[in-house]
Amino acid sequence: MENQRGQWSSKFGFIMAGAGSAIGLGNVWRYPYIAGENGGGAFVVVYIMVVLLMGLPYMIAELALGRATQRNPVGAIITIKPGSHWKWVGVLGVITGLGILSFYSVIAGWTLGYIYKTGVGTGLNFQEFVANPLQSILLFAAFMLITALIVYGGIENGIERWNKILMPLLFLILLGLIIYTFTLPGAMKGVRFYLYPDFSKITGKTVLAALGQAFFSLSLGMGLMITYGSYLSKKDNMVVSAMSISLLDTLAAFMAGLIIFPALFSMGENPAMGPALVFIILPKLFMQMPGGTIVGPFFFILLAIAALTSTISLLEVPVAYLVDEKKMNRKKIVWLAAFITFILGIPSALSQGASPLFTNLRMLPAYLSSADFLSQMSFLFGDFSLVIGGLLLSIFVGWVWKANHAADEIQQGSPVFIKLKKLWIFMIKYFLPVVILIILLNLFGIFN
Ligand code: PHE
Repeated sequence: MENQRGQWSSKFGFIMAGAGSAIGLGNVWRYPYIAGENGGGAFVVVYIMVVLLMGLPYMIAELALGRATQRNPVGAIITIKPGSHWKWVGVLGVITGLGILSFYSVIAGWTLGYIYKTGVGTGLNFQEFVANPLQSILLFAAFMLITALIVYGGIENGIERWNKILMPLLFLILLGLIIYTFTLPGAMKGVRFYLYPDFSKITGKTVLAALGQAFFSLSLGMGLMITYGSYLSKKDNMVVSAMSISLLDTLAAFMAGLIIFPALFSMGENPAMGPALVFIILPKLFMQMPGGTIVGPFFFILLAIAALTSTISLLEVPVAYLVDEKKMNRKKIVWLAAFITFILGIPSALSQGASPLFTNLRMLPAYLSSADFLSQMSFLFGDFSLVIGGLLLSIFVGWVWKANHAADEIQQGSPVFIKLKKLWIFMIKYFLPVVILIILLNLFGIFN
């Protein structure tokens, strides 16, 4: 075993860590509001198709690249294609990791605040809560600090141990909340909105939103799965792992939707209210349910932990890169990367009403994102960059490394893959690049 690198101690540990990275705010906070903004049922159908046809085959490709090279995203690419410009795709991944981490930890900080708020049951005005500058920055800083402390400990005692215990608990509480919201008056209207697809609502933007959300939620497109794959051994079954991670992740998001939409319709709220959605609906739900001042904090503790297992993975990518390639000291790097991310995240923390400048700093066109800094970071790094990364890495694996070589790597430890090999090669070489390209061209209005 290489000294500065770790390895997962068990297959279960890896699946839990991969699912821990995938499951987070993307499922509980982001997925419901994106689904709400994109018409509900129609989005859900497109989303599930995108996960199956694009997310899953692509995740296997990233894992294979990581395991074959035993390196971080940049190192993996250099190992396959030394001295080429392809390494910039890896660099883009590292930067994207920091970019996502910067706004993600701000929202994770809100979940910390809501542990307390739902416990005391007062001061639940979200607009006021996020507009408080000092509080936003302190909660954000606290979250970054916890993340850094865990990554500091290394992958085995840090990342793995947490995931194994806490992920199952999250599913349990989601299930409990679904059962409760289904008993509310008017809940079925929400179920209908969420599950009955109105296909006339599907546009190019719906498909892009689904693709961006799928990549974000499955932690794809920035080399995270390359990095996590690099801690795998040749005995590990990557196909089964990728399927388990995708299934758990999609299930968690789907369940979150089954809580939010029935609750929302029973309260007579608007499903398209945007990023504030769960922070408005869930606390209201807790306040009206029996025992809500206990269930509320418990829920937000689990959500904070789900977010933590994702921020850990986001920080692990730049750390692995600097440790492998620049031979820097792991512990120093952790603090440096955390500090840079903190500075980068301050405008996001102040962009929800605290600072008029960052609240209304339009850099991207209005049809892509709202005007606040955080939403634009979320689009730029959380959607756009991941999708571009996914396009380039599919081409890299399919054509530069060559899909056949990748398939041989996947085959090791995954005997079932023989049956899927041809299909997978087609997906990675043709289907993924072409479909992503069409979606991107559409985004820039080429087809109008
Ligand atoms: N998948 C995580 C979530 O849904 C976010 C994430 C994106 C983590 C990319 C790592 C890499 O919350």
